[in-house]
Amino acid sequence: MLEKIKQLEEEIERFSCEVEKSLEDWRIKLLGKKGEITQLFEEFKNVVPEQKREFGQRLNNLKNSAINKIVAIKEKLEVSVIEGNKEDKTRPAEQVTLGTRHPISLVKREITSIFSKLGFTVEEGPEIEDDWHVFSALNFPPEHPARDMQDTFFISKDPDILLRTHTSSVQVRVMQNQKPPIRAIMPGRVFRNEAISARAHCIFHQVEGLYIDENVSFTDLKQTLLSFAREMFGENTEIRLRPSYFPFTEPSAEMDVSCKICNGAGCNVCKYTGWLEVLGCGMVDPNVLENCGIDSKRYSGFAFGMGVERIAMLKYQIKDLRLYFENDLRFLRQFTQSY
Ligand code: DAH
Repeated sequence: MLEKIKQLEEEIERFSCEVEKSLEDWRIKLLGKKGEITQLFEEFKNVVPEQKREFGQRLNNLKNSAINKIVAIKEKLEVSVIEGNKEDKTRPAEQVTLGTRHPISLVKREITSIFSKLGFTVEEGPEIEDDWHVFSALNFPPEHPARDMQDTFFISKDPDILLRTHTSSVQVRVMQNQKPPIRAIMPGRVFRNEAISARAHCIFHQVEGLYIDENVSFTDLKQTLLSFAREMFGENTEIRLRPSYFPFTEPSAEMDVSCKICNGAGCNVCKYTGWLEVLGCGMVDPNVLENCGIDSKRYSGFAFGMGVERIAMLKYQIKDLRLYFENDLRFLRQFTQSY
């Protein structure tokens, strides 16, 4: 038995291997149910009592050194597997999960792309604005309800600094900084002091449009919006302009597009009218041109403004505005378009 122990001690000392399978085989050979070390423990009961202590210690040491050796080799093999993988240029790539664009970004990019093709540039302006750019320059009378704290988030009063309630403020900045002809769209976030519900939110997105040149007419506005609507909602889309009022345009209108869901027959999305309201528009009021340093005798222009959330709701039939802001992956993963 002593001989056998010595022989195994040497074997453990010498043993090495390169693959996990050989290591496992060797483990079974020594420590498996019928392994050589396991066998020695069986035989231990035959050792005479005077020698039990010495043999016991040697057997335990033998077993421990076998286990230690196995663990050490195993660790070495695992490290080399990882390093080996790094080197292996033919190894399949690890899976990369791609994110998807937010529906608001998708629609904003689509709107931008349509107007870019029509020759419009993209401009941006600050979200924190003063009263003049958001209201006064745009012909809002001093007592207009939009100037009320209930509708607008004020940062300070006197001077009035506030979060812009529409992207029309960027029109003003563009007119101040550029000379006609001007053809620009202005996407951005806007803020209104509204309780959050399925149909209203205190933060949302708009895209503003502005076209200023000599002899710009209402027909130009109508044709531009028709081209946009057909690109955005499909080539058979019809538009209709209803008279409306905005302080900064005269005349003003609201544009509806024919309902794609029921093709005009009436459904709950278009509230059985066959039409969906998508934007506000009009001819820029001469007062606004003059406020921004543009000669209203020589130049005229049109403007329009649309809510991105609203367009996305119509395009994707989203019924609750809050979904846009909750970052629920089950909602977001449905939008896989490439825009
Ligand atoms: N600023 C308007 C709003 O927030 C939208 C709008 C209407 C913009 C008519 C325009 C326009 O440029 O001409 O409701």
